[in-house]
Formats: sequence, structure tokens, C-alpha cells
Amino acid sequence: MSERFSGQLVLVAGGTGGLGHAVSVEFLKEGAAVVVTYRRQEEFEALRHAAGAFASRLEGHSIDVTNDAAVHQMIASVVAKHGRLDAMTNAVGGYAAGWKLWEAEPRVLDQMLSLNLHSGYVLSRSAVPAMLKQGRGAIVNVASRAAIDHAASAAAYAASKAAAVAMIDSLAADLKGTGIRANSILPSIIDTEANRKAMPDADFAKWPKARDVAQVILFLCSDDAKLIHGAAIPV
Ligand SMILES: NC(=O)c1ccc[n+]([C@@H]2O[C@H](COP(=O)([O-])OP(=O)(O)OC[C@H]3O[C@@H](n4cnc5c(N)ncnc54)[C@H](OP(=O)(O)O)[C@@H]3O)[C@@H](O)[C@H]2O)c1
Repeated sequence: MSERFSGQLVLVAGGTGGLGHAVSVEFLKEGAAVVVTYRRQEEFEALRHAAGAFASRLEGHSIDVTNDAAVHQMIASVVAKHGRLDAMTNAVGGYAAGWKLWEAEPRVLDQMLSLNLHSGYVLSRSAVPAMLKQGRGAIVNVASRAAIDHAASAAAYAASKAAAVAMIDSLAADLKGTGIRANSILPSIIDTEANRKAMPDADFAKWPKARDVAQVILFLCSDDAKLIHGAAIPV
């Protein structure tokens, strides 16, 4: 097995979620020390179990990643402990749709912006200064195909994901020449437990697996992707 991330420290925000869990496991398999943020203890325990022999390289922090002060403190403590931060991927997000714009409550827009935009903003604000000190690093924000394919009854979700892509694109411009790369990925549906429960009659075999989406994130964080910066990659 290749160990592209041996000796590196990777932060996976939302690292116990449907996609985040797979991202965390793949980074662990490839030699990284992985710090995840999570909210539910049982999800972190499930990840620790899945990590198996690599669990000693896994660390968890239960925080709200939309809270700027909490994220700042967590990243500062992680960098103080490990002395580095090589990659940060944001797999926190949320989905709410099913109403025409004028039928949805205004709080739906607030929720989508908080989970899908604010999270990446807050995480990047604290991760970038640590990476600038090293002169290297990689950031991958998980957006959605909905950022470019704007379906009906999903205005708040589409807007939040499109804004997240714009944010990372602008961040990439800020980071030009620093050695830090920032990219977005735009998954369509992913084969997660939550999606299987929500769509029990779908043909799951046709859905992209979380592990395969995770591999795209690992590629973007690896030196093999050293020329990819400011991209929004449909997955
Ligand atoms: N699944 C798909 O089909 C799909 C398709 C396109 C794009 N995406 C995007 O891919 C990303 C991951 O999706 P997913 O299916 O893995 O979602 P998920 O299973 O809901 O995972 C999201 C994770 O983020 C955590 N989280 C939510 N709010 C948080 C907060 N304020 N602070 C800290 N953690 C928080 C969740 O914790 P709790 O579980 O405790 O709430 C969960 O562990 C999201 O950005 C999503 O929009 C997913």
C-alpha cells in the first residue's frame, strides 16, 4: 500500500460523517495522522473502530465548526501538539430541499449557509495561517454538483454550495504563490447510509462510493496534484 501521507497531519472536519468517515480512513491507511471534528461520540467511536490498527494515529475533537473561536482554539492546539498541518478537508455540510423558494422558511437559507459556507470560511481562516508558516498545505472543500446544476426546490442548498465554490476560488487567488493549494470537489449523490435510508428504492450499485470520492480528495491533497489550485472538480 502506498503511504503518500506518512508523517503528515491532516484535519478532516466532519470526519465521522458519511463521506468524512471514508476520507479519514483512507488518509489513515496512507500513513497520515488524522484529526477529525465530530459531534456525536458514537460516530467517533465507530470511526475509531474502523481505523483498527491505525487508531493510534486518530484524534477527535467534538466542536461546532461554525464557531470561529472554537475552531481557532482547536487548530492552534493541534498545530502546537503536532507542529504541522499539511492538509485540511471540510466534509461538514447539510442538505435541505423539497420546497419552492417561496414556500421554504427563511431559516432554511440560514442553516444551509451556516453548514455549507460558514464552516469552510471559519476552518480556512484558522488553517491557512498555520500553513503559511510552513509555506505548504492543501485545502479541499466539499461542495456539491448542485453548485453548478441548480435544480428546482433546492434554492438555499444550491446557493450555499455555489457560494462555497466562489469562496474557495477567491481563497485560491489569495494563496497564489504561497505553496498552499485550495480546491473544491462537487460530488453528485454518494452511496451513504443516510442516502440509502432516504431513497430505499434506488439502485445503490450505481451510486459513487464514499471511498472513491475520498480518493479524489486524497489525490488533491497529494503532491501528485501540485499543479491543481483553484479548481472545482465534479465528482
Ligand atoms: N451525501 C451526498 O450524497 C452528497 C452529495 C453531494 C455533496 N455532499 C456534500 O458532502 C459533504 C459530506 O456529506 P455527507 O453525506 O457525508 O454528510 P453527513 O453524513 O451529514 O456528514 C456531515 C458531518 O458533519 C457534521 N456536522 C454537521 N454540522 C456540524 C457542525 N456545525 N459542526 C461540526 N460538525 C458538523 C455531522 O455531524 P452530525 O452527524 O452529528 O450532525 C456529520 O458528521 C457535505 O458537504 C455534503 O453537502 C454530499
